[in-house]
Amino acid sequence: MNDAPSREPEMANLLELARQAALHSYSPYSGFRVGAALKLTNGAIVTGTNVENVSYGLTICAERSALFAAVSQFGPEIRIAAVAIANLNQAPSPPCGACRQVLAEFILPDAPVVFPAADGPRTMLFSNVFPLAFDMKLK
Ligand code: THU
Repeated sequence: MNDAPSREPEMANLLELARQAALHSYSPYSGFRVGAALKLTNGAIVTGTNVENVSYGLTICAERSALFAAVSQFGPEIRIAAVAIANLNQAPSPPCGACRQVLAEFILPDAPVVFPAADGPRTMLFSNVFPLAFDMKLK
């Protein structure tokens, strides 16, 4: 059951771009091919894919690849208005915890996030995907 409006057809387009990004996946170790597409508030769409490494721990997820590309292309003022995640493995893949924390830095709380769930694509608000985000408040 979705808990956010899917904003079709914008989200369908974003999902298709995430699928296309997954075609570029470098994932010889897991075979799990993931793509992410970020819609920015400036109207741009930036995609990313997972890039694995023989040392395993240096692997970068599709979501963080896309986010780092977005900041690299448009600078630190970017804000993420919507996220789509896809994989080519017909498996559920909500964004991992590390990617949620990194997305939290730049995303609008009410941004829709569509990701592969057990019964197909599911759309949720980011604030529901990642409640209680760490946010450093210095006195
Ligand atoms: N992966 C992602 O790209 N995004 C996630 O949110 C979870 C996992 C990648 C990392 C690794 O290359 C493969 O999926 C298996 O964990």
